[in-house]
Amino acid sequence: MPNSSDSSDGVTTFVSASVADTAAVARRVAALLLAGDVVLLDGPLGAGKTTFAREVAVGLGVTAAVTSPTYTLVHEYEASRGLAVAHADLYRLETVAEIDDIGLEEFTGGRHVLLVEWGAAAAAAFGPERLEVVMAYGPPESPGQRTIELRAVGPGWGSRLAGVEGGR
Ligand SMILES: Nc1ncnc2c1ncn2[C@@H]1O[C@H](COP(=O)(O)OP(=O)(O)OP(=O)(O)O)[C@@H](O)[C@H]1O
Ligand SMILES: [Mg+2]
Repeated sequence: MPNSSDSSDGVTTFVSASVADTAAVARRVAALLLAGDVVLLDGPLGAGKTTFAREVAVGLGVTAAVTSPTYTLVHEYEASRGLAVAHADLYRLETVAEIDDIGLEEFTGGRHVLLVEWGAAAAAAFGPERLEVVMAYGPPESPGQRTIELRAVGPGWGSRLAGVEGGR
């Protein structure tokens, strides 16, 4: 399991040395997710947002191949427990207003877990409760090294995120 350090402000940070480490964090997050949840993924190009989203989807029981929605904007998958996964990528959007055009609200508040890459700029469009996953390169700078920050936004996520670390 990757190293993690918890802090009281609703941010939990993991250091990942490999895709497998990132997958382990993503699977733990998946275990906390419920219908109607929104997870925003941010970080620079190639940081691992799609990799994380794929592993969350697998953790939720998606068996189809999860591919990047960069050009298609949103992909939808059947998961287990009656859940579905909607995986969106807002990278190509130029204005927040365009989010309405994609119709992501179709995937909020129902049986979907909504995963959104490049979602930070549009965070307000997704309501007051969300989990933000912020990925970064390093430290140290090496091909497999990433930092993964999980940020609880809204009162519900603060306590739910406590379950993401081992042993409690
Ligand atoms: N520790 C790690 N965690 C996640 N991905 C890693 C890690 N180490 C190396 N990688 C590699 O980094 C790449 C991440 O690509 P990915 O498409 O997931 O990034 P992204 O943030 O979604 O990019 P984009 O901004 O283009 O959407 C993959 O090739 C993956 O194998
Ligand atoms: Mg991506």
